[in-house]
Amino acid sequence: MLKLKDGYNVAVVGATGAVGSRMTAILEERKFPVAKLVPLASARSVGKTVTFRGKPVPVQELRDDSFQDIDFALFSAGATVSKKFAPIAARAGAVVIDNSSAFRMEKNVPLVVPEVNPHAVGDDPGIISNPNCSTIQMVLALKPIHDKYRIKRVVVSTYQSVSGTGQKAIEELRDQSHGVLAGQPVASKVYPHQIAFNCIPHIDEFLESGYTKEEMKMVNETRKIMEDDSIQVSPTAVRVPVFFAHSESVNVETEKAILAEDVKKLLSSAPGVKVVDAPDLKQYPLAIDAAHKDAVLVGRIRNDISKERAVNFWVVGDNLRKGAALNAVQIAELLVQRMKS
Ligand code: A2P
Repeated sequence: MLKLKDGYNVAVVGATGAVGSRMTAILEERKFPVAKLVPLASARSVGKTVTFRGKPVPVQELRDDSFQDIDFALFSAGATVSKKFAPIAARAGAVVIDNSSAFRMEKNVPLVVPEVNPHAVGDDPGIISNPNCSTIQMVLALKPIHDKYRIKRVVVSTYQSVSGTGQKAIEELRDQSHGVLAGQPVASKVYPHQIAFNCIPHIDEFLESGYTKEEMKMVNETRKIMEDDSIQVSPTAVRVPVFFAHSESVNVETEKAILAEDVKKLLSSAPGVKVVDAPDLKQYPLAIDAAHKDAVLVGRIRNDISKERAVNFWVVGDNLRKGAALNAVQIAELLVQRMKS
């Protein structure tokens, strides 16, 4: 059971990875009260260190006994690792904040975006799930719209950066880009096709329905976070040759009459969102502007010319920060804050 303390022992599982390294950095940036940081990864990483508050901290191998005296265990080492070790960490008394898809749709596991459904964390959470990156940035924009206009349907296409797949995918895009420009043949190890100078409409596994698991995460997680199973979501998830930040084209159909100019005002005061919408000045959300930043950018807000009670917009967020590591740290902050109040 989590207790209010001056400092907390925090384990980061997957500390050497794309998300895990940001979890450590964000704990430091936001001055989370860390008494002891325990970076965990596979046996391959023993001997490596992560830098925390200017000092090297040795990476330890993830083991069954890694969670003694741990208050918070932030997981980002994939669903297989989470399935095995998150229950072990929770049994050892840690609050687990899991970035994988392992537990997200389990009934008793809260799926939390602190700006959207902070109440969902519950009083004694063992495992809390961090939603899918594409879903987090979309629901930040959808929630205020749903509260005011009641969303009936969302049609979304994503343009997802390679960092969402992890460090190896970042290297694959870099290597392939050099290779293509040098006129050399390229090897695809992480993705089923060349990602450099290409778009791949395939993220995660295909299901019998013809949709991918990534697309269905957006359907199911949106409904769970927004606590409304009546919201229809029609998704297409695409991997694009961008290093950091996912972009999304979103069409929203509402029950009540809705106008783009009102949505612009509404989203201007939405927590976690920054409206960047001055097309005359060529200002709209860009992946290169959202990368390495906390805010989710929304722009190109316009009325749907084909339908009444519908608007279109463009949402861009850093998938490793708000889409993963930042959201996880914010959940930990929320739990600490709740113990104080
Ligand atoms: P390691 O670097 O030792 O392989 P990314 O998402 O960037 O690919 O990173 C994945 C993270 O998950 C890395 O920190 C990686 O550690 C860790 N990881 C992967 N498999 C395991 C495992 N079986 N046990 C512990 N950590 C793992």
